Amino acid sequence: MKNLSEKTAHFTDSVIRRMTRVSNQYNAINLSQGFPDFDPPEAITRRLSEIATIGPHQYALTWGAKNFRDALAAKHEHFSGMKVDPESEIVVTCGSTEAMMASMMSVCDPGDKVVVFSPFYENYGADAILSGAEPIYVPLNPPDFGFDADVLEKAIATPGVKALILCNPSNPCGKVFTRKEMELIAELACRYDIYVITDEVYEHIIYDPYEHVYMATLPGMRERTLTCNSLSKTYSITGWRLGYVIASPEITDRVKKVHDFLTVGAAAPLMEAATVGLQFPDSYYEDLKDHYTHMKKLFTDGLRSAGLTFTDPQGAYYVLVDISEFGYDDDERFCIDLAKEVGVGAVPGSSFFRENVNHLIRFHFAKQDETLLAAIDRLHDIRKLGRN
Ligand SMILES: Cc1ncc(COP(=O)(O)O)c(C=O)c1O
Repeated sequence: MKNLSEKTAHFTDSVIRRMTRVSNQYNAINLSQGFPDFDPPEAITRRLSEIATIGPHQYALTWGAKNFRDALAAKHEHFSGMKVDPESEIVVTCGSTEAMMASMMSVCDPGDKVVVFSPFYENYGADAILSGAEPIYVPLNPPDFGFDADVLEKAIATPGVKALILCNPSNPCGKVFTRKEMELIAELACRYDIYVITDEVYEHIIYDPYEHVYMATLPGMRERTLTCNSLSKTYSITGWRLGYVIASPEITDRVKKVHDFLTVGAAAPLMEAATVGLQFPDSYYEDLKDHYTHMKKLFTDGLRSAGLTFTDPQGAYYVLVDISEFGYDDDERFCIDLAKEVGVGAVPGSSFFRENVNHLIRFHFAKQDETLLAAIDRLHDIRKLGRN
């Protein structure tokens, strides 16, 4: 038999999903894979049951049902202040995962380079491999996850750089880029003529006093930003696979074609049902933020009470905990022991970093209070793992 593709030979098994299997094996509370264990808003699920009988059930327009795109454009304008043409500037995709992949494939040719902040969400590695782009990593330095502007400029100035990938708010480190940092990135993007592909799935999960700055709204950035986003986290519907790219008509023209050949389109009945979510009033987003602020407080107070050291997240629903004190030199081994001996599942931080970082593990806290409280209760026993 001939070899299968060289490209896919270099994919690694997802560490996050591996840790979910480890959690299941040891009956641990799984705080590794990041999805909510509570229900989506009732208005959305109620609409879904109506749609089941009245349709649509056939293909929608490949770049998304018109009323869904209209609602997306209105919502995006409401929060970002940026007017978006739903006909020529939006492509609806199967989650932000496809939005990022289609964007990378639209922007990059094999041999191009992309700048990626490290730690990074694991899909960006696969996006780079499939689009043929070579990543150049710029460290976000723990514990505060700031970056060195000179290191960033040097990376962007490397010959062959076509784009920068920006996850904001960041999974896994919970960083929310400040306006000043965003302006610096924007200025470099314009000066070195590169695209910025943003992943903004946690746009509405931000803790006071931090604020979401939309890259595309900064001077010179509208025409060079591909804004990728999704409904997964905002409406707690990760299984519905609804995402989108917002970009200039020149860019979306390409993204539409890639998307058409990749998936044809997002699920028509789900777009129809989710449209009601896009029309929710401001109070929905305020409640969402309050809910996550509550969960963050509950969980991080618990971590503190268990004597653990961590970086307080500014956004998203993950927290990186420092495990240096336990004396392990392998964070994956630590996570396996944690699941087995303590009964809580986490992700080894090394799977997110390009640098040699193995003293951090990631928990997520998009869980019901009782799940988080039970996990905290177990974490009070974490010192049985000490190897000092
Ligand atoms: C940063 C980031 N981007 C994208 C995704 C996946 O989004 P979607 O469900 O829209 O594909 C996740 C999910 O955890 C994520 O953390």
